[in-house]
Amino acid sequence: SHREYDERIQGAKDRLGADLVILGHHYQRDDVIRFADFTGDSLELARIAEGQKQARYIVFCGVHFMAETADILTGDDPIVILPDMKAGCSMADMADIDELEEAWEVMTEELGDTILPITYVNSTAAIKAFVGRRGGTTCTSSNARGVLEWAFARKKRILFLPDQHLGRNTAHAMGIPLEQMAVWDPIDGEWEEEKGPMEDLRVLLWKGHCSVHTKFTVEQIRDVRERDPETQVIVHPECTFDVVQAADENGSTSWIIRKIGEAPPGSKWAVGTEVNLVQRLARTHPEQRISLLSRTMCPCLTMNRIDRPHLLWALESLQEGRPVNRVSVDRETAHWARTALERMLSIH
Ligand code: 13P
Ligand code: SF4
Repeated sequence: SHREYDERIQGAKDRLGADLVILGHHYQRDDVIRFADFTGDSLELARIAEGQKQARYIVFCGVHFMAETADILTGDDPIVILPDMKAGCSMADMADIDELEEAWEVMTEELGDTILPITYVNSTAAIKAFVGRRGGTTCTSSNARGVLEWAFARKKRILFLPDQHLGRNTAHAMGIPLEQMAVWDPIDGEWEEEKGPMEDLRVLLWKGHCSVHTKFTVEQIRDVRERDPETQVIVHPECTFDVVQAADENGSTSWIIRKIGEAPPGSKWAVGTEVNLVQRLARTHPEQRISLLSRTMCPCLTMNRIDRPHLLWALESLQEGRPVNRVSVDRETAHWARTALERMLSIH
């Protein structure tokens, strides 16, 4: 039963004591995140992981790239565990290192040494290492603008991957017109057709997206406003350009939590992000009216793979001294990926 699981998880946690730190991303299920020692958005969790060098184990309740990032930032200790190895991120899977090598060759041939590569942390360690080697860095949804400003102070152009939407939304907010952006299709290995003159390009967008956040539409926003014009629409910047333009506000998961937390009682919100977070917000703020932007549920299936049985299995393996599901990045890749991540962490 659920109670039995909860007791066994808590028991394992108690016995592991200070050896163990459990980190939980805001999209985790309620029944898992309640066991987290720390919760946060991607940037906060990366910083928290970096500070856990005294622990023996980090159990990362999130997705694979987050656990990889924790391992890259902490080195050999602590050991980083992902309770279910199938908890990937479909967006991160959209950028393959071989495709990137190929794209880079074409882009640098066409545009010379004018491009700085920037990857969203939602990407593999190999991609992070690629950008690290070339003077680039990583970003998250909460620091994307600062990172792009940093990048444009160094090169005329940026290659942004894998999320075309976060890239476009951020660059547009900085005043870069859409005509100065182009989309690279990694499957066809070529530019998408509608692009302006080559020499004007500033932002080269990788054709990747989040399958959860691209389900939100402008029509849903229109419906919400028709029903009640006082409802404020708040979305994650992985939503499409049109949706972010139509929304009232956009920001990272922690930013959304803060924004709603600071709002006066009686505020009404339609929230365009993962459903676990939206439902938790609605529960923790009964004094406000909080609903999901879409009428249909939009869970991140991979985030949701981490459940009680997987968490318990991971914790018991640690107790037995035979850790399962260790996420470990090879030294060479980790070195350059760390270079990229540390550049990000030093940008303010
Ligand atoms: P945040 O960094 O905003 O938590 O986002 C992580 C993520 O995967 C969003 O889909
Ligand atoms: Fe990846 Fe989207 Fe899930 Fe975030 S919500 S982990 S970007 S698939």
